[in-house]
Amino acid sequence: MSNNGDSNKRTHTCGQARLGDADETITLNGWVESIRDHGGLTFLDLRDRYGLTQVVLDPELEYGAILDQIRVEFVLSVIGKVRARPEGMRNPKLDTGDIELAATGVEILNPSEVPPFEIAESKEEPGEEIRLKYRYLDLRRQAVQKNMIFRSRVTRIIRQVFDEEEFLDLETPFLTRSTPEGARDFLVPARVHPGRFYALPQSPQLFKQLFMIAGFDRYYQIVRCMRDEDLRADRQPEFTQLDVEMAFVDEEDIQELIDRLLERLFDELLGVEVSLPIPRMKYDEAMSRYGSDRPDTRFDLFIRDVSEQAGATEFQVFSKTVESGGVVRGLCVPGGASLSRKDIDGCESIARSFGAKGLAWVKIQEEGSKGPIAKFLGERGVASLREAFGAGEGDLLLMVADKAPVAATSLGEVRLHLGDKLDLIPQGRFDLLWVTDFPLLDWSEDDGRYHACHHPFTSPRLEDLELIEDDPGAVKARAYDIILNGIELGGGSIRIHSQDVQARVFKAIDMSEEEAREKFGFLLDALSFGAPPHGGIALGLDRLVMLLLGAPSIRDVIPFPKTAKGGCIMTEAPGGVSREQLEELFLELNLPEETAEEEAG
Ligand code: AMO
Ligand code: AMP
Repeated sequence: MSNNGDSNKRTHTCGQARLGDADETITLNGWVESIRDHGGLTFLDLRDRYGLTQVVLDPELEYGAILDQIRVEFVLSVIGKVRARPEGMRNPKLDTGDIELAATGVEILNPSEVPPFEIAESKEEPGEEIRLKYRYLDLRRQAVQKNMIFRSRVTRIIRQVFDEEEFLDLETPFLTRSTPEGARDFLVPARVHPGRFYALPQSPQLFKQLFMIAGFDRYYQIVRCMRDEDLRADRQPEFTQLDVEMAFVDEEDIQELIDRLLERLFDELLGVEVSLPIPRMKYDEAMSRYGSDRPDTRFDLFIRDVSEQAGATEFQVFSKTVESGGVVRGLCVPGGASLSRKDIDGCESIARSFGAKGLAWVKIQEEGSKGPIAKFLGERGVASLREAFGAGEGDLLLMVADKAPVAATSLGEVRLHLGDKLDLIPQGRFDLLWVTDFPLLDWSEDDGRYHACHHPFTSPRLEDLELIEDDPGAVKARAYDIILNGIELGGGSIRIHSQDVQARVFKAIDMSEEEAREKFGFLLDALSFGAPPHGGIALGLDRLVMLLLGAPSIRDVIPFPKTAKGGCIMTEAPGGVSREQLEELFLELNLPEETAEEEAG
């Protein structure tokens, strides 16, 4: 940085000076991290986003009079001479640890109130609520800055890769109509169209398909998406996608592009080698072996189907379930016989909360098998299950008898719980996986009809198309998800580019022609004007950055995140609006009683 003549403007950052700068006169601007009076001399650490420099202040010099006004978080300009620290006083942990700045002039650019929590690195992490209320101070903390700087590096590499691959970065509207990603829309009332609303985009899905029809065959965008859904640790109401669409491609082309991108990101950011191609697993295998469509493949605890052996036992829960077309599946937990009753009950309650009616268990032990159902199974029953699981002494068998999807999901959750509890997950490992061949449609008991598993523009596998009228549940989609350590990083599909196929899919999900026209008429029209074959994907950028950093929540990698209830503690959004504003929009509030009282109080 050059000195442009303004005497208090910085010439260097606080992370810059080294031994080679000794005897140079430089100016630093930054915040006071700490200040220590060593009788005679005062030491002060000055901080900015680049680092820390130790400043030595002499109270005998001209600026001495202002020294006792200076507190932490004051903004200072310090001019002085760089000098080597005395031997023994060097700090190898600090980039600037070999030098210090002997101040010849100090100016307070701005004082600061005492901050509500310590900004300097401290042992104690401030509470999340206070951090979010003063997020700008939280963002001043080194650990949080590190995350934001990392995020910026992630997006820079993404842009480099997509630029090299000749993608166009094109924008799509925020004030638009509903996009069908399956969540609730955030609505924006339109003042000049009384009674009408824009929907904020859940994703740029329809617009990126229109780009393909327009001939922009390679599109990407780092874009905000808005979804009004119940929040979890890895969800926010507004989040960022790396959104991609390509024309004249198939699944492989898109997966290979993302393979290359992830390889670059892991290499440049973490120095971790990703061996390509990233493995692919079919949805059916993911569900049957891992009980999840986003399997955590970092540990080998597999679900097995033991319907044949279990169905042949005297235990009626098993035999009746198999008779009526259900399955018995289970996990063999190596060494699990040492788990306590409480541990096993813990597993059972997880299984139950995912729909299982119970969790049958048997401990394989030297002195015979133990567990409430061992007597029903009999010695022969236990022996055949033991063989089916390949279980040895000291192992624990956990089984669920139910319809296949319930058995899969509930055991999948028990599997994850045990992976964590028994420390089966190696730290520092990154397991990337493509899950492919998803079902196209999913039957919902709630409203008695099929729904699109991904979104309704996803292409069925062409060889399955003839099943769509008679056996819709059997049709597979040309859809794929990319999974990292058991978390869905992204998902995409090859799209339908024929109007006729699109109409058949709408019909399969019970969407009438009128409804389809009313919702997506513009897309249907567009498909009739020479739509090229196309497909794409979107990765959750927040999740990607969180996983690369090993952060516990996406809130750690978003500069201004929302709380679990979707609010912002700092701005107090969402906020109320005035009667005039409502009138302008021709809106009236009709609040449930409790909320109305809360607002009044
Ligand atoms: P999908 O709905 O699967 O696909 O979203 C893609 C990825 O976005 C991330 N994500 C979220 N991240 C944080 N908070 C949320 N509330 C949230 N919701 C989703 C996930 C997810 O994998 N248009 C399609 C993509 C396509 O078909 O090209 C889409 O949006 O990491
Ligand atoms: P019960 O006969 O209901 O007391 O169940 C005996 C044992 O079988 C308990 O450990 C239950 O958790 C288990 N159990 C009951 N129903 C099922 C089921 N559908 N699948 C697996 N285990 C079950």
